[in-house]
Amino acid sequence: TEPEPLKIMISGAPASGKGTQCELIKKKYGLVHIAAGDLLRAEIGSGTENGKRAKEYMEKGMLVPSEIVVMMVKERLLQPDAQEKGWLLDGYPRSLSQATALEDLRIRPDLFILLDVSEAILIERVVGRRLDPVTGKIYHLKYFPPENEEIAARLTQRFDDTEEKVKLRLETHHQNVEDVLSTYKDVICKVNGDAPIEDVFAEIDKALSSILEKKSRTDSAS
Ligand code: AP5
Repeated sequence: TEPEPLKIMISGAPASGKGTQCELIKKKYGLVHIAAGDLLRAEIGSGTENGKRAKEYMEKGMLVPSEIVVMMVKERLLQPDAQEKGWLLDGYPRSLSQATALEDLRIRPDLFILLDVSEAILIERVVGRRLDPVTGKIYHLKYFPPENEEIAARLTQRFDDTEEKVKLRLETHHQNVEDVLSTYKDVICKVNGDAPIEDVFAEIDKALSSILEKKSRTDSAS
């Protein structure tokens, strides 16, 4: 029998590399990537009332109220694909009330990855970040430039990716992170996110394969 699928949370300051690592994790482990920020941006893109309200908070670098975020993430998490393939929750939970809502549903991760990146690096990563609207791929002008001119010409920037706004986002992160960490202290894996993309992934990869190995051992023993 197949071992139970992986359930992973990834957290870290703005631009610490969550989305970048999630792409790599998804490719290797086939988990369903659920990013709270992406769900919110999709909502903004569809022009819904919730999207409009969410954008007001995102522009200030503040957390979007839980009544908007909690339902949205919960619904996605309970879809059959996430239950069958396992999930990778990115940027969620970000507050004690969000963590508690998951605990109440008995939704717990096997591992809580915390990307640890120094502040000076974060600002540079935010300011240089670019997105490909066609493929959804995340680039960086200096650290991960686009492969060709055609892609370079169509790259966009996120509305909250300015130096001023990232400082507000960082403040919000500092205000909430300890509460979330306290909920998951038994499963936290702190990773040095200052390192190059492939080195960060190597560390995460090691942690994930060791969990999978443990899971298959327990499953075959039972
Ligand atoms: P969200 O979209 O989650 O933004 P964030 O947390 O600020 O994180 P980012 O997406 O900016 O960065 P990342 O860590 O994914 O980094 P990336 O891989 O792109 O949230 C946005 C807003 O939505 C919030 O402010 C809030 O208002 C709201 N929101 C979201 N979740 C919420 C929740 N749960 N509750 C309430 N509100 C919520 O990398 C960044 C750049 O660095 C890229 O250019 C990349 O190429 C480069 N890079 C990555 N890794 C490396 C490396 N190792 N070396 C060099 N460059 C690298």
